[in-house]
Amino acid sequence: MRLYIREMLASQGTHLSFHTPGHKRAGEDITELSYSDSLLSPRGVIAAAEKDLAEILGAARSFILTDGSTCGIFSMLYALKTRGVRSLAYPEHSHRSVSNACRVLGITSVLIPQTAKQGIPMQPSATEIEGAVKQADALLLTSPDYYGFLAPMSEARKICATHAKPFIIDGAHGAHLHFTDMYAGNYADMWVDGVHKSLPALTQGAVVSAKTELWAAALREGVRTFRTTSPSYPIMASVEEAVKFPRNPMIEGAAEETKRRLGAIRNDDWTKIAVFFGAYAEDAERALEAAGVYPEFNDQNYLMFYLSPCTKREDLLRLEELLNGLPRANAEGAELGVIPIYSEE
Ligand SMILES: Cc1ncc(COP(=O)(O)O)c(C=O)c1O
Repeated sequence: MRLYIREMLASQGTHLSFHTPGHKRAGEDITELSYSDSLLSPRGVIAAAEKDLAEILGAARSFILTDGSTCGIFSMLYALKTRGVRSLAYPEHSHRSVSNACRVLGITSVLIPQTAKQGIPMQPSATEIEGAVKQADALLLTSPDYYGFLAPMSEARKICATHAKPFIIDGAHGAHLHFTDMYAGNYADMWVDGVHKSLPALTQGAVVSAKTELWAAALREGVRTFRTTSPSYPIMASVEEAVKFPRNPMIEGAAEETKRRLGAIRNDDWTKIAVFFGAYAEDAERALEAAGVYPEFNDQNYLMFYLSPCTKREDLLRLEELLNGLPRANAEGAELGVIPIYSEE
């Protein structure tokens, strides 16, 4: 996409902008012009990119989003609603976009309680999921979650098939898993990939996908309802490139070794290193920032360090060196409350 836009711009002698955006610079941040494409009804370079992405992600249709996974969640719930879903089961600590979309669309929430282990809300068990699925018309799980734990997707798939209920996944933190059997697209009817979080896309770049043509038609209406009518080409191009970005086995391995040496939580996802600091969390965050190191979040128990295939080995080593010099509390036996990071204001 980027190459195409560059070629189109280069082929023009002059480009006098009497169109949006207001910065009036002809560059990659163009709008929907005759030679570019339209995100709402793509026929050219966007259609080609979405077709490629669907093939890579194992979907019948994939839609590029420039409004984050939030737009994907709203679009999937809209699609469910148009197919008769009136209630949705989802874990109580799901991202706020899920409850917001339920509220806006008039879908009843069936909350699945999550037990906390050492201050982290655990994924619900298959038994808990089945109990909730029986009371709702559809199921949403988040996988992986912010702490790097996978949902029991295979079991959930079977449960939903048994009860003939649709299954969707919030994969805001799992776009980098599309090479693996841990990928949401192997299990769900519809899912969203937060490409900008764990792959090298610009902030807000995401993809929402449908497994079958039936769901694709409903999802298309959803994205047409909720996404912007002024899509950013730099974001769209970055999403296309990020999904095609190769794996980095060296950093994946180094991340797992770093986790082990640091005594980070044992989770399922190499991109998320959560280190327990307890009462020292604030001090640790301040000390790290003074050294120019910024974690993804501090939930007052854990500092979370978020990696991607672009993380450099020397940066990981630097992080480990700094963390080893900081005081930490012991999570074993500590009475820890869950900090609602998904829903805080
Ligand atoms: C689990 C989860 N789902 C959805 C979202 C929304 O993603 P975005 O910020 O790309 O809209 C987030 C954001 O942090 C998230 O953590």
